[in-house]
Amino acid sequence: MQQVELGANSSGIDLFDVRRAYRRWAPIYDTTFGRLVDAGRRHAIDIINRRKGSVLEVGVGTGLALPRYARHLQITGIDVSPDMLDKARARADKHNLGHVVALQEMDAGRLEFADEKFDTVVAMYVMTVVPDPEQVMRELERVCAPGGEVILINHFSQDEGLRGLIERLVAPLASTLGWHPIFPVERVLGRSGLRLTETCSLRPLGLFSMLRFIKQPHLASDTRLKTEALAGHGQLNPASV
Ligand SMILES: C[S@@+](CC[C@H](N)C(=O)[O-])C[C@H]1O[C@@H](n2cnc3c(N)ncnc32)[C@H](O)[C@@H]1O
Repeated sequence: MQQVELGANSSGIDLFDVRRAYRRWAPIYDTTFGRLVDAGRRHAIDIINRRKGSVLEVGVGTGLALPRYARHLQITGIDVSPDMLDKARARADKHNLGHVVALQEMDAGRLEFADEKFDTVVAMYVMTVVPDPEQVMRELERVCAPGGEVILINHFSQDEGLRGLIERLVAPLASTLGWHPIFPVERVLGRSGLRLTETCSLRPLGLFSMLRFIKQPHLASDTRLKTEALAGHGQLNPASV
């Protein structure tokens, strides 16, 4: 297992904060936040259950989704918190979930999977708590097969209104809370290989949204990678790409 690096970044949250926060959350998660946001989780799983093949659930947490995935799917879950993962493993054992093929401790920003391995990649209530959301989006895109789907359920912040004010007030507590109260949707929209196909707001109170992306076919992603590689060496010549 690759060692996860600890260290603060510009978000003010690091993996140490995340693990510490979820060590505290693990015993009470299912009956508190986990229950509050169940509507969004069900919505995503209903969509995923209509698909085929392999699913990667990033930030699987205590595994609340696991018993709900259809048995024709092959589910892999990863999470950086050993305490949350212990709960997920216990749930998979208790419900005898043979379609859950692996539950691994792993950083979403450094996935230890081959490119294009999964038909569906889902991250529910995760992007606001990872230290580097842009890097995680890069990884979700990388491990998703061309034509596959990346599905996010997340809270996205507002600039205006009471909600915007509250988000700005609690923002300095990011590392204590273990999540980013201020999280504009643009932070997950930067991947050219992921085409946004659907957005919808979810209960409770529209506080969370679902975003569905399709991973673009090979040509686009190969061309983009080549472009990035050339740009990195200061040799970008669009005509040659
Ligand atoms: C709010 S919980 C969501 C859990 C689950 N997806 C659900 O629907 O209830 C966020 C989860 O993301 C995990 N997480 C945070 N940062 C992570 C990272 N960099 N890599 C993997 N998991 C991470 C946390 O440990 C936690 O279990």
